[in-house]
Amino acid sequence: MRKINIKTIILLVMLLKRMVHTKCRGSTYPFSDIVRFKISDEQVPWNVCVPDYDPPEYNSKVLLNKPWADPPIGDCSFKPKWNELDGNINRKSHSGAYTVLNGRPLNPEGRTGIKGRGVLGKWGPNHAADPIVTRWKMEHNRKVINSTTNLPVLQFCAIQRKDCKQWALPGGMVDPGEKVSETLQREFLEEALNNMEASKDQSEIDTKMIKDFFKEGSEIYKGYVDDPRNTDNAWMETVAYNFHDENGHHVGKFDLKAGDDAQNVKWMDIDKHIDLYASHSNFIKTVVDKLKAHW
Ligand SMILES: *[C@@H]1O[C@H](CO)[C@@H](O)[C@H](O)[C@H]1NC(C)=O
Repeated sequence: MRKINIKTIILLVMLLKRMVHTKCRGSTYPFSDIVRFKISDEQVPWNVCVPDYDPPEYNSKVLLNKPWADPPIGDCSFKPKWNELDGNINRKSHSGAYTVLNGRPLNPEGRTGIKGRGVLGKWGPNHAADPIVTRWKMEHNRKVINSTTNLPVLQFCAIQRKDCKQWALPGGMVDPGEKVSETLQREFLEEALNNMEASKDQSEIDTKMIKDFFKEGSEIYKGYVDDPRNTDNAWMETVAYNFHDENGHHVGKFDLKAGDDAQNVKWMDIDKHIDLYASHSNFIKTVVDKLKAHW
């Protein structure tokens, strides 16, 4: 058995601690020049007393009068039911009940150095869904095996984000009243298939096959996401599902190619060097372990 020394354990503990709010504690808030209030790792949990904690408030003007966004807090028309299914809007968190203080939901993971909802549409949890669509890499009708690990190489459907050019899963926000399974399928269709070669006739795409394919998925992750847009009062949560095309006869047969000005989309080979947006690399690693693929 391999020995683990104390140094390794300390390093691991430090790494794990850093994983909380690392993305959302970078100094300036995305799409703004608002600087987050500086706090140390120890000051993140709400139950740790930080008497001088006085974060700036930021609420993007973009959100005003948008049908998909909540009204400002304090608006007399806004009577949210926190921690509940509020009409069509799911205000429940995957991490259990969150605290509401002075009419504002509190980030379940702790302080972020900024209050308000930033650029997020909803106060409290903002629900997203990330489909991880995978197939085996094939050559001459055979699975490609990596000679070092002796394991087959997995590929997943990746899109290139327009804002930061980073590769990511074709995920998106769960629309009000929509089931997560529907969001996963819609996002894949919209972001990946609609971007296929313009020459391809849409009618060639067998929608029934796609619908059936998206019925069988396995849950990879459900919960809070360490996202740069998170604030003390609004945060991202996601459900990640893996849809694996074992024989490549379903969505795996589609050649993913972006049109002229469309987003880039492709089947990306998976190994330990992939560098993806936000927590997406962790989701992929979980899928790799599950399917016993090369890493
Ligand atoms: C196989 O995996 C090893 C180790 O991860 C890597 O260095 C190598 O480039 C891979 N081989 C091919 C042909 O991709």
